[in-house]
Amino acid sequence: MPEAAHVGSGKVRELYAIDGDQLVLVATDRISTFDVVLPTEIPDKGRVLTGLSAFWFARTRSTVPNHLLGLREDGRSSECRRLEMLPLECVVRGYITGSGWKDYQASGATSGQALPDGLRESDRLPAPIFTPSTKADEGHDENIDLDQARELVGAERLEEVERVSLDLYRFAADYALARGIIVADTKFEFGVDGEGRLVFADEAFTPDSSRFWPAAEYEPGRPQPSFDKQFVRDYCESLGWDKTAPGPELPDEVVAGTRARYVEAFERLTEIPFDSYLADPETVLR
Ligand SMILES: Nc1ncnc2c1ncn2[C@@H]1O[C@H](COP(=O)(O)OP(=O)(O)O)[C@@H](O)[C@H]1O
Ligand SMILES: [Mg+2]
Repeated sequence: MPEAAHVGSGKVRELYAIDGDQLVLVATDRISTFDVVLPTEIPDKGRVLTGLSAFWFARTRSTVPNHLLGLREDGRSSECRRLEMLPLECVVRGYITGSGWKDYQASGATSGQALPDGLRESDRLPAPIFTPSTKADEGHDENIDLDQARELVGAERLEEVERVSLDLYRFAADYALARGIIVADTKFEFGVDGEGRLVFADEAFTPDSSRFWPAAEYEPGRPQPSFDKQFVRDYCESLGWDKTAPGPELPDEVVAGTRARYVEAFERLTEIPFDSYLADPETVLR
């Protein structure tokens, strides 16, 4: 990409600047678990992430503007508006699982928000809740309460991202459920444009940013099978790995199983065959 300068690497994406206000975001096939990038890649994972994000960006524009300008033919690169990112990971939980379940078991609350007594693991919450976390440059993101979040972005902006996050979650959770997928929780990142407007950025409702559960197998009181990284997390934990770098290599069957889960999530949500996406990425925008 001679026209672009490399400006950064995330765990999964490479960022290139085309000029002052445009980025090319390239989603690689890297996979991270417990915030450690593993040495083994999952073929086409980056394409699933880019395609799914573009699908949701195209369908949520009336709720909030987003950063997407266009998709490139490789299906993994997207052209985006370059934004000032808010230092907040905007998490919405519709079900109690993961770190929310751990917090709830310890304290009856998560991120400082009290929850009803007697919830079982994976139970649906009475209403979705907004539980932001910090966006750590290194190490693990930390759950914070709304007071701490207000200090980071200001009261008005926090109210806006909470409202928008809950609206986005409700829209996608209903859409997905009608296609047999529960969106248990999800994470958004927002930026602010030159005019101070809030813009939905990064990725949207992917298996990396969300927990997707097959609705047909949903049964509270236990962990759920899922279309996301849980398969890889479970494999890594079965090795007794201490969750610090370097992470373990993944055997072929774990790679194939993970790829299949990512592709299945793409196809069930978009109702577009993944091969059709590869042939013409812009199909997800229509
Ligand atoms: N429109 C945008 N403008 C500027 N930065 C962005 C934009 N969209 C996403 N980003 C940033 O690009 C990076 C994406 O790379 P990723 O591999 O997902 O990083 P991470 O390891 O932080 O998850 C993140 O730091 C994200 O905040
Ligand atoms: Mg990311």
